[in-house]
Amino acid sequence: MKLLLFSLRPHLYKHRKLLFWGTVFTLISNWFSIYPAQVVRHAFDFVGELLKTSKQMEGFSQKSVVTDALFYVLPFFGLFIVVLALIRGYFLYLVRQTLIVMSRKIEYEQKNQLFKAMLGYSQNQIRAMKTGDLMARIGEDVANVRMFVGPGIMYSLNTLTLFGMIIVTMVYVNPELTFYSVLPLPLLTISIYYVHSIIVRKSDEKQKQIGVVSSFVQESFSGIRLIKAFAREKEMEKKFGELSNAYKTKALDLIRVDALFMPLIVLLIGISTILTIWIGSEKVIAGTITIGNIAEFVIYINLLIWPVAALGWVTSLTNKAVSGQKRINEALNTFSEIQYPENESQSPKTGDIAVEFYNVNFTYPDTGVHAIKDLSAKIEKGKIYAIVGRTGSGKTTLLQLMMRVIQPQTGIIELFGRPLESYTRQELKQTFAYVPQDVFLFSDTIAANIAFGKENINHEMLENAARFAHVYDDIVHFPDKFDVKIGERGVTLSGGQKQRVSIARAYVVDADIFVMDDSLSAVDTKTEEEIFSNLRSKLDKNKTIVIVTHRITTAQRCDEIIVVEGGKVVETGTHDELVSRKGPYFEFYTRQQLESQVYS
Ligand SMILES: Nc1ncnc2c1ncn2[C@@H]1O[C@H](COP(=O)(O)OP(=O)(O)OP(=O)(O)O)[C@@H](O)[C@H]1O
Ligand SMILES: [Mg+2]
Repeated sequence: MKLLLFSLRPHLYKHRKLLFWGTVFTLISNWFSIYPAQVVRHAFDFVGELLKTSKQMEGFSQKSVVTDALFYVLPFFGLFIVVLALIRGYFLYLVRQTLIVMSRKIEYEQKNQLFKAMLGYSQNQIRAMKTGDLMARIGEDVANVRMFVGPGIMYSLNTLTLFGMIIVTMVYVNPELTFYSVLPLPLLTISIYYVHSIIVRKSDEKQKQIGVVSSFVQESFSGIRLIKAFAREKEMEKKFGELSNAYKTKALDLIRVDALFMPLIVLLIGISTILTIWIGSEKVIAGTITIGNIAEFVIYINLLIWPVAALGWVTSLTNKAVSGQKRINEALNTFSEIQYPENESQSPKTGDIAVEFYNVNFTYPDTGVHAIKDLSAKIEKGKIYAIVGRTGSGKTTLLQLMMRVIQPQTGIIELFGRPLESYTRQELKQTFAYVPQDVFLFSDTIAANIAFGKENINHEMLENAARFAHVYDDIVHFPDKFDVKIGERGVTLSGGQKQRVSIARAYVVDADIFVMDDSLSAVDTKTEEEIFSNLRSKLDKNKTIVIVTHRITTAQRCDEIIVVEGGKVVETGTHDELVSRKGPYFEFYTRQQLESQVYS
């Protein structure tokens, strides 16, 4: 609880005006809910008096005047109560307009804070935490805290003030009767707390099952091609049936407990009311209170029920908010293991060497795979490099180390003569243009996807990039050309088209080093040749190009080839040099030549 309030303090302080007015409106609306009970007492007592008077006037001619008065005056009591209720309603509306609005604002702030913090995590941290968990923190946990900040605070304030006001009024009328009337109430709070906790637990289970069912459905439809190709419809149908049956069981389970909730409240109100009337009547007979007081008390009891019930509810809600806030704080206090300097280094980027690796070692922390072993390599400025090697040899890992997406455990990497660690986030962004191995495009327009890496990009630049990546002709054949939506609700691109859009996206960045990780695997050799000649002709002569490839035909065209095996550089040199050396590259080369002869 302390943790919760402590963490929320800056937010609550920021919205202190809303909190203040919310409290004021709660007090006012509570007063308007108590006051009608006193009007009812007056009405009862008035009627009682009137009836007494009319009995005494038996036989007198004015008696009818007295009974007539009853008919004229009572509607006014009724009208008065209605007016009071309307005013109360208006203030309740204002309470929600302040406190609930405050909770929504705080929810918004917390979500933004979390998202910002999460974007700062390193790639490894995000993988370790899992997307589902990150989504739960930004979704459910924030929602749980919001339930406390909004309804939680609202009902607590309401309960506290209403309870105080009513008990004082009741004790003022008769302390003994008050004692008996509120006797069952603590029982109500405790039982509601228990019932509600069970409900929360069961509805969590139900919610989880909904998640399971919907992710199954989502996966089924995104993998529909596979399901159809393997004719797995029957099995999928059966699996879905099982999952949704489990959901049904959980939902029914919840309803069973849920059904207890209202009867429990009604039972305890009943007991309270009976006690009030019973003890109250004895007091009326004894002459210590009036009949109006009993009516008043019954109304008070009914007024107390909801706040008292809310107390149990708020308690279990607070528990959830506390554990939610804990997880939020944990996420906010996680910092990336990769820290970038704030200010740019004074020494400029110089030298003819773009990147140099000195005895670099890298082990993936989650799996313990030692992917890069004592690797040393040099990449000179202005040249085109090919990195070749068997699958799993560490090529992608090498690129990620170079771009500082991951951090080596030992060794040094230098970029233009400066340690990689001295580069700010912004400088690194300007240094590398990256085409990843697994293409990812956002469900947005092609234009937005290409422009992703750069602000303020005009149409001419878009077209140039598309021409560079050889995807221009594909795009102009789409109905909306560059504005065509891709993904879920748009056109589906072929594998090769996706790769080329991804290349165009890297091109617009206009960085010093252009990096492609096996990015031409899904295009035919002719297109590949054309893109390759664009690399030569359209990129500035000063730019360095690093291409991971499995094709010897591509490697052949590069200035320099780096051969990686088991996380180490085993050979470097030009194609001709490496072929004449008859090492691993030569083996690679002859195997591919054989294959191409077999297939052609
Ligand atoms: N995120 C990761 N977490 C743990 N291990 C990984 C991760 N990525 C790669 N590895 C492991 O590191 C090793 C090198 O992988 P890497 O992706 O660098 O190979 P690659 O040369 O790019 O292969 P490919 O040609 O298939 O793309 C492999 O053994 C792989 O299983
Ligand atoms: Mg790879």
